[in-house]
Amino acid sequence: MPDWKNPPRLFIPGPVKVSADVLEQLARPTLGHRGKEYAQLHAETAEMLKKILFTEQNVFISTSSASGIWEAAIRNCVAPGEKVLATGCGAFSDKWGDVAAMCGADVEELKVEWGKPVLPEMIDEKLAGGKFAAVTIVHNETSTGLMNPVEEISEMMKAKYPDVLVFVDSVSGMVGLPLKFDELGWDVAFASVQKAFAIPPGLAVAAVSNRALEKSRTVPNRGYYFNFELWAKSAEKSQTLVTPNIPHIMALNYQCHKLVNEGMENVWKRHAAMGEFVRTWAKENFDLFCEEKYASNTLTTIKNTKGINVGETIAAVQAKHNTVFGNGYGKLKEQTFRIAHMGDITTDDLKELVGWIDDEIN
Ligand SMILES: Cc1ncc(COP(=O)(O)O)c(C=O)c1O
Repeated sequence: MPDWKNPPRLFIPGPVKVSADVLEQLARPTLGHRGKEYAQLHAETAEMLKKILFTEQNVFISTSSASGIWEAAIRNCVAPGEKVLATGCGAFSDKWGDVAAMCGADVEELKVEWGKPVLPEMIDEKLAGGKFAAVTIVHNETSTGLMNPVEEISEMMKAKYPDVLVFVDSVSGMVGLPLKFDELGWDVAFASVQKAFAIPPGLAVAAVSNRALEKSRTVPNRGYYFNFELWAKSAEKSQTLVTPNIPHIMALNYQCHKLVNEGMENVWKRHAAMGEFVRTWAKENFDLFCEEKYASNTLTTIKNTKGINVGETIAAVQAKHNTVFGNGYGKLKEQTFRIAHMGDITTDDLKELVGWIDDEIN
């Protein structure tokens, strides 16, 4: 019998495990969102986020999940009928293309087989064929456990298409993978906090370039809740446009302190080491779903080469240890399974998990 009051330990690729000290932050007395104390919390958090994302441009905190920023990027920065190149290599990046079309963009898709990366030359070929306002890219595709070569893509974009806006879904990348927003020349990058920030769901973080903000001022019908221009005006006062999810921002502030103290290079190395550990285990027992060069450092998708019953294995580990990992996503269910290694999960946690999987499969 499931019991939500005795929840399983999570190794699914989001929401991920949240440490007890982070949960405590969510229980702090609330603040008035127009008061000086909130402004202090907001300013401090935004400053740290700028360090974490390596940006001196705009950082916004949105009381929404990340899908809200999928819409916001398009609705703010792409005028109805302007062209967007939507690159897709898995369930989430494919979906963003659908959402862009729902928001009125003229979407051209560039889809590659799930598990394969989107390469700069593929984007180049498409962009060369028309006038595009923006391109959408996923940093880390959570359905397949794939890291796109975003540095190479960004270099190509800067050199050949400096006027095309670059929107990056870094939902399962941000914090866990290198991301230097200003250096990469991105225009919108975002994540929800239930991934590598290791906070319960309910908040999204976005970096927005000055030129994206400028462009947004020219776009009609941007709506209210996700309006970048209104967000920026509120941010100047260290506020948000609407009453924000203050407990989550307290937890975000707490996590940002830890990240800044650890140093982002160290945080990225820690994630890379966890990725390496899980990949080594995966290769000894199964195989990797993605080519190793593109295999994610925040989650590993494992090809079920042994033909195990993934659902039953997850159920057995849950029954014995109250711990869950992820089945394959969508059409990859049973053919693959996924282990998250982001946020406050440690290599010791992962050793325990793979030991329990070993007990079931050997
Ligand atoms: C890569 C990616 N993009 C977007 C989303 C949607 O995020 P949210 O559920 O926070 O709206 C997810 C969720 O897992 C994701 O992994």
